[in-house]
Amino acid sequence: MPTPTRYAVIGHPIAHSLSPFIHALFAAQTGETITYEAIDGGGDDGGFERVLADFWAAGGCGANVTLPFKLRALQCADEASAEARAAGAANALRRVDGRVEAHNFDGAGLVRDLAAHGCALAGARVLLLGAGGAARGALLPLALAGAERIVVANRTAQRAQQLVQELAAHLPASVQLAACALGDVPGAFDVVVNATSASLDGAAPAVPAAAFAPQALAYDMVYGKGLTPFLALAQAAGARCADGLGMLVEQAAASFAWWRGVQPDAAAARAQVQQHLAQQGVAVL
Ligand code: ATR
Repeated sequence: MPTPTRYAVIGHPIAHSLSPFIHALFAAQTGETITYEAIDGGGDDGGFERVLADFWAAGGCGANVTLPFKLRALQCADEASAEARAAGAANALRRVDGRVEAHNFDGAGLVRDLAAHGCALAGARVLLLGAGGAARGALLPLALAGAERIVVANRTAQRAQQLVQELAAHLPASVQLAACALGDVPGAFDVVVNATSASLDGAAPAVPAAAFAPQALAYDMVYGKGLTPFLALAQAAGARCADGLGMLVEQAAASFAWWRGVQPDAAAARAQVQQHLAQQGVAVL
């Protein structure tokens, strides 16, 4: 038996992370010999950097990083992908020849999951709700996937404008980009992505029903909350609904492939994760 290669997810809190479960599924699917553990990055200043350094010193080869350490994870890296630089944050690290490389697969996970929901982004009109880290991470991958138009709408319009201004130079020139307040969303969209944290507070971003084109897909980045107020609003406007569970599994699959050079079956894993959550009484869509 080869010695398992060590991977982990680092966050705070981390006890309820699904990542160890998901990566165990991938390892079983592909026959890769790995361990994948959840590590608490600590709440104190400097804790995360120490925990990460200890992990590398103990032979760790790669790590996912989750809230609240994604920005600090990028700062710990020697090199970063364009996606991580655009997001200003990393959710995956790997150590190659003593150097730490950073990537951010959150946006790619979103794009892949949208495709899994039958949503073709080429030529699509996309409404991205929110202007925090989650929206920032999604903008470049959505543009690179061929969206024709992306409007970033935020409760505080100024933050949306700032985000668009900052990232415009990194996006393909063919993308029509705009920013506005939630109530000023112009026209209808094929895909509406909720990247705000409103669902975590049981609230919905106040987006007009007219923002959902016929057959639109409404996507909430959160998972385990069932039909969130945003998705209920979208459903009432006639949209199809999806939560962020697939995005979680897809970013995990992309991390696994980046580390191991083997592509796991994300769709099969997603079905198993969904079953696992349902057994625990978690609200799944
Ligand atoms: P994250 O990094 O998870 O995106 P964040 O930087 O705190 O978190 O951003 C949260 C986002 O959700 C912001 O876009 C915020 O809007 P503001 O910039 O106006 O604060 C948005 N948000 C949070 N609660 C909301 C609500 N009830 N309705 C609409 N937007 C909300």
